[in-house]
Amino acid sequence: MEYARLGNSGLKVSRACLGTMNFGPPGGVGVGSCDEAEARRIVDAFTGSGHNFIDTADAYTGGQSEHIIGRAIKGQRETVVLATKAFLPQGSGANERGLSRVHLTRALEASLRRLGTDYIDLYQCHQWDPDTPIEETMATLDGFVRSGKVRYIGCSNFTATQIVEAQWAAARVGGTPFISLQPQYSLLVRSIEEEILPACERHGLGTLVWSPLGGGILTGRYARGTAPETYSRVGRLLASSSPLARAWAQDLLAERNLYIADEVAEIATALGSTSVAVALAWVRQRRGVTSVAIGPRTVNQLTGNLVGFTLDLPAEAVARLDDASSAAPRH
Ligand SMILES: NC(=O)c1ccc[n+]([C@@H]2O[C@H](COP(=O)([O-])OP(=O)(O)OC[C@H]3O[C@@H](n4cnc5c(N)ncnc54)[C@H](OP(=O)(O)O)[C@@H]3O)[C@@H](O)[C@H]2O)c1
Repeated sequence: MEYARLGNSGLKVSRACLGTMNFGPPGGVGVGSCDEAEARRIVDAFTGSGHNFIDTADAYTGGQSEHIIGRAIKGQRETVVLATKAFLPQGSGANERGLSRVHLTRALEASLRRLGTDYIDLYQCHQWDPDTPIEETMATLDGFVRSGKVRYIGCSNFTATQIVEAQWAAARVGGTPFISLQPQYSLLVRSIEEEILPACERHGLGTLVWSPLGGGILTGRYARGTAPETYSRVGRLLASSSPLARAWAQDLLAERNLYIADEVAEIATALGSTSVAVALAWVRQRRGVTSVAIGPRTVNQLTGNLVGFTLDLPAEAVARLDDASSAAPRH
């Protein structure tokens, strides 16, 4: 099993991280639909094959993802690197969201309770909070580390500027710096390459990248002119009563995305592999990627995903994928 150091720290994580946004019934942020029995089989298969990194968030499936993981890792807590996040609303009150001292302190206690543990290995800010001074956030997180309730801290969805501001603020308050960023990254979304990955490298952050299969588009299972299966992520989004969810599904099915999925499928056929493995191997092999947050909904999907962590793409395949997915040049 290959482990990598996460950013400028001594923490070693598997190159595959188990993302758990699918765990539990739909609710809160997250897709949901993987029941607890299947979720526990996924966790056991994942850790049983030597992987150690598991990611969740307080907002996933209304807290159910954290509850399920807490029960699933009982007995193996010391070998699991457990990551969770805070920021998103936990109620309608003015102080029930964001990165303020008052909210983060309550959010951490609630996550510890749901996860049934007395420490979090990696506590992440789910996104930037424009309403809280970053010094307050970094000083609060430093207090968590000093208390022993949190071992390392990270952020998610920050811009390059926000990463630099946070690291400088940590230095100003004499606090703990971030060791990781959790950004979106796949053959469909490569915007972090220009400024965010270089900022991470320069400021000591490793990366845990999310939606490596573009929410399932890169698996090749969505064909033009054919309605998505009703139980699939896109099928569920299209059937949602939320206009935002339906718009997200339409974005995912954009012609550019389907074209890239076709290229992935052709390369997979030529290599005698699968689209899932090829798309994940491309992300894993990118410079600056420490770990890849996969999001299996079933044990079979997990097994298919893990092939992408042993497949080494030949240079010609990487070049063809780079070309098919590159953005238009900017001047
Ligand atoms: N920090 C953030 O803001 C943020 C945001 C999003 C996600 N994340 C993290 O990243 C993790 C992964 O994100 P993601 O779920 O969007 O990842 P993804 O790998 O891009 O998409 C996962 C979906 O792909 C499909 N899939 C996976 N393996 C498959 C296989 N072998 N065959 C066919 N289909 C397969 C499944 O769709 P179906 O359900 O349709 O079967 C699954 O739900 C999350 O669990 C979460 O931990 C973080």
